Amino acid sequence: MIDARNIGLRNIEVADTKISSIDGDNGKLIYRGYDILDLVNHSTFEETAYLLIFGELPNSEELNDFTERMTEARSLPSPILRNLVNRPKRADPMDVIQSAISELPDYDLNMGEDSKSANIRRAITLIGKIPTIVAAWDRIRHSQDVVEPLEEGSHAENFLRLLRGEHPTKEEAKIFDISLILHAEHSFNASTFAAREIASTRAHMYASIAGAVGALSGELHGGANVQVMKMLLEIGESGNARDWVRNRLNEGGRIMGMGHAVYRTTDPRAEVLRTLSHIISKERNTKWFEITQQVEKATQEFMVANKGQSIYANVDLYSASLYYSLNIPLDLNTPIFSIARAAGWTAHVIEEKFAEAAPKPALYRPKASYVGKYCGPMGCEYIPITNRLSEDSDNNENRKRT
Ligand SMILES: CC(C)(COP(=O)(O)OP(=O)(O)OC[C@H]1O[C@@H](n2cnc3c(N)ncnc32)[C@H](O)[C@@H]1OP(=O)(O)O)[C@@H](O)C(=O)NCCC(=O)NCCS
Repeated sequence: MIDARNIGLRNIEVADTKISSIDGDNGKLIYRGYDILDLVNHSTFEETAYLLIFGELPNSEELNDFTERMTEARSLPSPILRNLVNRPKRADPMDVIQSAISELPDYDLNMGEDSKSANIRRAITLIGKIPTIVAAWDRIRHSQDVVEPLEEGSHAENFLRLLRGEHPTKEEAKIFDISLILHAEHSFNASTFAAREIASTRAHMYASIAGAVGALSGELHGGANVQVMKMLLEIGESGNARDWVRNRLNEGGRIMGMGHAVYRTTDPRAEVLRTLSHIISKERNTKWFEITQQVEKATQEFMVANKGQSIYANVDLYSASLYYSLNIPLDLNTPIFSIARAAGWTAHVIEEKFAEAAPKPALYRPKASYVGKYCGPMGCEYIPITNRLSEDSDNNENRKRT
């Protein structure tokens, strides 16, 4: 039987990476050697994406060139747009993103080439196009005209305009840019590991990123921010938060946006998002920040009283109220995560495929501990189906019903 400490690959190092590191005890997140807080204070999403993909901060010329290539990559091939129009409007945005990404190789004229430069080009294509897919789908499902991507302007500004059909304020674009930096990369989380695992088979970049989107959609990963907002809406008023949290935890439920597999203190991203959520909720006079704070406090009180240790806010706790106060539709929270994380995912796929130093990555193939039926080294006797029916009729009755 597998050692309980290693369930879900906990405590097992599966690869070397130069892309990011997390100090879970001290709440530090480092991208390519740079503290996330320095990047938030001094950088932009475009510069951060360059850093993640190329490994170094760019000079002005390099950044201009990279930004220009990302801007040029924003528009979608018209057949992909037509396919979006043909989808049922109830389709989940994460499913829509995943399938639109799977169509991109059809329009990549160089698919036979798996060089580093071809993969960097694919990374830029994906980072440029995912915001367009997300915004186009949101407008299509609300029977609105799709907006053409901006030919200039930041990644953040472009996305908000694509979504709303009008320019965001400077402050909104800045806040959104910071959020993109914070969500851009986080080492071997479930979706990044999925991307790398797929790339390790020598599958192409688009297949790897489509797989990562699927992994991100789950509520224990990127899907948590949607669940956080649903929780806040259900709680309704800050005065209800304490009882709501206690009931949920007493029933053995989880509080979304709280706890982390690696951080043993507050996630540094949550600290920044807490500040941004506070600013926006004060400016717009919304109650969501206050309710979130009460949820955080009540969860920590309960955990300390009942489990003897606290859990802390993660990246999803305050991003939910922040996006809601920015009038972003609730179910776009996770898609927005994918817009930012495209930078980290693609950097990891490139590292997986082109790592220079030994030990180089290999096809992932973990072992499993078999705990199923065992009838000895020769295996179980195969019983023909007709004999099986008469042998254990009670059991077969049950099987028929399920
Ligand atoms: C992310 C997550 C899956 C990590 O789980 P983990 O690796 O088991 O975390 P820990 O080892 O720190 O958990 C310690 C204890 O706190 C509990 N716990 C952790 N997060 C919790 C939460 N959000 N609500 C209630 N209890 C929680 C665990 O069940 C565990 O209890 P146990 O000792 O009785 O088994 C978990 O915190 C969670 O489900 N969070 C909510 C979903 C979420 O916000 N996901 C986004 C992550 S960025």
